[in-house]
Amino acid sequence: MTELDALFSPITIRNTEIPNRAVLPPMGTGLCEKGGRVNDALLAYIKRQARGGAGLLISEITAVHPTGMVAPKQVGAWDDDFLPGLKALAENMRAFGGKAAMQLHHAGRESFYMIKKGKAMGPSAVPSLVYGQAPAEMSIEDIREIVAAFGTAAGRARKAGFDAVEIHGAHGYLITQFLSAISNHRMDEYGGSFENRSRFAIEVAEEVRRNVGDNFPVLFRISAEEYIKNGYTVDDILGILPQLVGAGVDAIHASVGTHGSPAGVTSAPPAFEPGFNVWRARKIKEAAGIPVIAVGRFNDPRPANNAIATGDADFVAFGRQQLCDPDFLQKARENRYEDIRKCIACNQGCIEREMFEGKSVRCAINPETGQELAYPEQPAAQPKTVWIVGSGPAGLIAAYEAGRRGHEVSLFEKEPEAGGNILYACKAPHKEIYGDWIRWQARQVEKAGVPIQTNTKVTADMIADAKPDAVILAIGGEKIIPQIPGIDLPHVYDAWQVLGETAAPGKNALVVGGGLIGMETACFLASKGSSVTLAEQLESSPVPKYTSHGYTLHKYLREKQCIFRFSTAVRKIDTAAVTFAAGEQTEEVSGFDQVVLAVGMKPRNALKRDLEKSGFPHTLVGDALEVRRIMESVEEGARAAWEL
Ligand SMILES: Cc1cc2nc3c(=O)[nH]c(=O)nc-3n(C[C@H](O)[C@H](O)[C@H](O)COP(=O)(O)O)c2cc1C
Repeated sequence: MTELDALFSPITIRNTEIPNRAVLPPMGTGLCEKGGRVNDALLAYIKRQARGGAGLLISEITAVHPTGMVAPKQVGAWDDDFLPGLKALAENMRAFGGKAAMQLHHAGRESFYMIKKGKAMGPSAVPSLVYGQAPAEMSIEDIREIVAAFGTAAGRARKAGFDAVEIHGAHGYLITQFLSAISNHRMDEYGGSFENRSRFAIEVAEEVRRNVGDNFPVLFRISAEEYIKNGYTVDDILGILPQLVGAGVDAIHASVGTHGSPAGVTSAPPAFEPGFNVWRARKIKEAAGIPVIAVGRFNDPRPANNAIATGDADFVAFGRQQLCDPDFLQKARENRYEDIRKCIACNQGCIEREMFEGKSVRCAINPETGQELAYPEQPAAQPKTVWIVGSGPAGLIAAYEAGRRGHEVSLFEKEPEAGGNILYACKAPHKEIYGDWIRWQARQVEKAGVPIQTNTKVTADMIADAKPDAVILAIGGEKIIPQIPGIDLPHVYDAWQVLGETAAPGKNALVVGGGLIGMETACFLASKGSSVTLAEQLESSPVPKYTSHGYTLHKYLREKQCIFRFSTAVRKIDTAAVTFAAGEQTEEVSGFDQVVLAVGMKPRNALKRDLEKSGFPHTLVGDALEVRRIMESVEEGARAAWEL
């Protein structure tokens, strides 16, 4: 008996027993070959995920038709040529006893790849909310062809050895485009009323069922709510459920959001609570009368167990949590909750890296994910003595990975606590979870047998005396101090003093700098009740609104009525007033009782310079090399340890 009895209990769907209720939801990886062929990188990734012990694993989107591909590296399923790869995929997904479902997908208008080729199609010629370009309106023949393609791809999945299929009817792709009145302006039997707009989804479900036969589970993924202005709501969607069940659907996967939904709600940032979408799953379960999968920000199996035990859902999917720690279910079974690396919902390594950078899947805080072929699981053949200087994200992961591989590691930190700049970054609203993570990572370093020597400033002489086999410099970044007259006045502080709470928030604060540090500092001050003005030299904040974190920051400051002064430099700070310059115009503004400098960071230099002078070999990682995000710091720290 564990406290996770509900989560770890089996359930039968259409004669198929699923060993437990934890689901690996579909996650596109961008790991396969261009053109859609399964390769070793994808197989290694999925096998590692399967080892975690989820009862049901759903493959990433597989394209049922070449016009439906969302990106060149999407697994294909529209031709028998793909069968050997799909067979290998199914086999690896099933390797540890979980059941494997293949997700059937057509992107419709939401494919920049197809838009560029002039091949994007949709229910109507309504531009994509993301790409701003319209697809060709599908003819009745097109509709028949795509419905048939869903069916034959489903049959192929069965042939390939999958245990089930999932129809991707969510997230603004083709099926949602038919369901949504925003994208479907048709006047024929596929448009107009909700019943007509549902027709395509129902026909797909019927065709899939026809192709897989009676004895094979069919799941349907739906966005329980479009989560967009004038989009459909969960109450609207209940109407389609009886027909889906009638068409042979055995379970509903209740996701949320569409392309263009604000805040990236589909893979929601920390502003959304774990399990925030469960209430919609419950509504769907009650209306459909068939099992439902709940999903959304779950990063701990206990609340997931609760959602099942209370009957809100029958399964819970853990998406980014699986990427972050594929072993988390096993750790929970062993009652080792303190060892679970919890997803911080930053989206840097996974969904946003894929969508906005066109790269394959990673996890910002778990360097193994997406790099399974490079990841050295075994201890190092030749243990070395390693000095790691600095215990921010790069230094901590380097120490953890090196310690795990059996090297003799000394980790030094000049401050009283490990964590580097994350100890400050986690002070902004909704970022507390980053602090939990960095402290967790520090505890794991110590568990891996590496003591953290805090309050210890390392010099080049100390390194020369100790002569370690390797030195990893993870000394991070330091603040840039802008040369503005008046910065030495007593009411002028920097972001670190404010976030570190050695300076109390002012009543009327001016934040100088609108990059990430400035925006987060402004949010922190606003959360403490300060009135905040933010001055930035650029025309707009360099923090993009299209990332989920950027969106959260902009929204928060808007709601707190922060005053933005863009294209504005701060020329001078006086006790009574601040002089702003916008182009040729200058303006004196009084009333600020606090000025906070937040113009960014640069790599910390002193020790690096000394080591270069002495010629002692060393590897620079993270912000010490170039100031960037957690994702890059963790990746470089881990690589440095792997390459020892
Ligand atoms: C990297 C990544 C890729 C995704 N790809 C898919 C996909 O192929 N099909 C799909 O239905 N959802 C996809 N999603 C959405 C997830 O399945 C899941 O619904 C979402 O991340 C919310 O769950 P979580 O909060 O547990 O991560 C993807 C999410 C991520 C992070």
